[in-house]
Amino acid sequence: MTIVAIDGPAGAGKSTVARAVADALGFRYLDSGAMYRAVALAALERASEPAAIADSIELEMGPRVLLDGLDVTEAIRAPSVSEAASRAAADPAVRRALVVRQRRLLGDGDWVAEGRDVGTVVAPDAEVKVFLTADPAERARRRASELGAEHAMVLAEQTIRDQRDRTRQHSPLEPAPRAVVVDTTTLTLEQVVRRIVELVKGRE
Ligand code: DC
Repeated sequence: MTIVAIDGPAGAGKSTVARAVADALGFRYLDSGAMYRAVALAALERASEPAAIADSIELEMGPRVLLDGLDVTEAIRAPSVSEAASRAAADPAVRRALVVRQRRLLGDGDWVAEGRDVGTVVAPDAEVKVFLTADPAERARRRASELGAEHAMVLAEQTIRDQRDRTRQHSPLEPAPRAVVVDTTTLTLEQVVRRIVELVKGRE
């Protein structure tokens, strides 16, 4: 059983990289941020506190994200959900509930898991840990083109979320011990994937 933990800020390319690494290695892929997003969406829809529902909602994490049986893969990407997810992720009770669920998923098989605290909290014993970063302006540029949104607005929102993710008391975003820091600002997707695949192969 091998776990590859890929953490880092929004827009560093985590999702694309983690998916491609999982494909290259034949590992399963877990997007832990999608779990925070799904809890936030459920809370918005039910007008309840994320912490009150984080361990009771039914979540299926795969190529599609199912919330209580409904496909919310696209809905969880809405800007309002990004904002709500960032706030929900600052709540220790929400984190506790989701970390339990994440550890249960990762308990079996080979995984590439991405998020903010996979290498620090969820799977501190992960065989390979990567902290993926990029220049803030470059991250905003990538997110803006992905969302079809305006660069300045994405950068402004990203700055607020980065600050919240980095300074929250519980599991702030920081490189895990033993994490290899990969700055993707000037690297192609292929270069980043190759680098991480080599790290994993180098351990086998
Ligand atoms: O990676 P993302 O943008 O989909 O994550 C959504 C939010 O959840 C973001 O504000 C960071 C937070 N998050 C977290 O705190 N811990 C994780 N393991 C994954 C995401």
